[in-house]
Amino acid sequence: MKALILAGGSGVRFRPFTYWLPKQLMPVANRPVLEYAIGNVRDLGVAEVGVVVGEWEDAIRDALGDGARHGLRITYLRQERPLGLAHAVRLARPFLGGDDFVMYLGDNLLPDGVAAAAEEFRGRRPAAQLLLRRVPAPSEFGVAEVDPGGVVRGLVEKPARPRSDLAVIGVYFFTAAIHKATEAIEPSARGELEITDAIQWLIDRGAGVLAHEYHGFWQDVGRVEDLLAGNRRLLTGLRPAVAGRVDAASRLRGRVVVGRGARVVRSHIEGPVIIGPGTLVEDSRIGAATSVGRDCVVRAAELSDSVVLDGARVEAVRGLRESVIGQHATVRPVHDDQPGRRRFAGDRARTGSPFASQRSGGNHD
Ligand code: TTP
Repeated sequence: MKALILAGGSGVRFRPFTYWLPKQLMPVANRPVLEYAIGNVRDLGVAEVGVVVGEWEDAIRDALGDGARHGLRITYLRQERPLGLAHAVRLARPFLGGDDFVMYLGDNLLPDGVAAAAEEFRGRRPAAQLLLRRVPAPSEFGVAEVDPGGVVRGLVEKPARPRSDLAVIGVYFFTAAIHKATEAIEPSARGELEITDAIQWLIDRGAGVLAHEYHGFWQDVGRVEDLLAGNRRLLTGLRPAVAGRVDAASRLRGRVVVGRGARVVRSHIEGPVIIGPGTLVEDSRIGAATSVGRDCVVRAAELSDSVVLDGARVEAVRGLRESVIGQHATVRPVHDDQPGRRRFAGDRARTGSPFASQRSGGNHD
């Protein structure tokens, strides 16, 4: 089996951050979202991975390399424009050949892995096997109608009146039968070749399409809130490790990682928290569910439940929570600052810039 990981797309919902970094490279517990996808396909024994990339090709190549570091081989497949998931399969056809494959959306986090679904697919080899998840708002997703035997009878993309609460999530298993379908379909009203249309094409021709209800943690990292939720979950599995220096006046509680070359000075850290290599935390309190990247400065600050990207500075700010601070951004107090404020600071932003601050509960875009 091969893998096709989709890391193109436009990431509109994740702006402003996706002006500087594709969402698949946003860090969760200090590792890019995409690395978790790579880890999950490697755990299935997959050795050949095609990664579909768009305008962020160079950054994604820099992050993943040729795959050797992850124990597999990566082939990059350029998609000039995000013309849909089925379009990505179409362009990957020469890479996939006649092999079975797992298609994995590169912005999906499934830390519990997909081994059980892969085993089922390998055992039964339907034309397609879909991972489905019961969700409270199915009309935001592709929705599947499934019979009691687990056979998918129909699929509808973002239906106004969903016939079930089973959403199609970002991992699909296919045999080579999917290629006929992706060639046969036409673009949808939004101008994309929809994978749901290709799968429906298979269903209409009597091919076997099976459902696998997924019960593990799943988070599609499409927006800032999703990144924070994924970060919270991934940090629960943190193994405490202190490679940097923690002075005698500091206190670490719970699961805390302090990276190499990092320094914690006169500070309290309440895990789970990860502090990246080379970062300085001084006279600060860092609360649970926070990831701070490499080479950051957190000084005289109080923050929790947040993600701070590489090279950022957070200084003299109190009660910061549920915030995302972009690469090399600087966050300092503003004149009407209040405790409990949230910040979404874009890369290299300074406090006071249009992207620098937002009150709790506000819309980030
Ligand atoms: P989506 O989240 O559906 O689309 P998007 O990335 O364009 O985001 P937004 O809606 O906020 O603009 O994409 C799911 C995954 O598939 C994501 O990792 C991007 C990838 N993708 C491609 O590689 N090619 C494509 O043509 C599309 C539509 C998505």
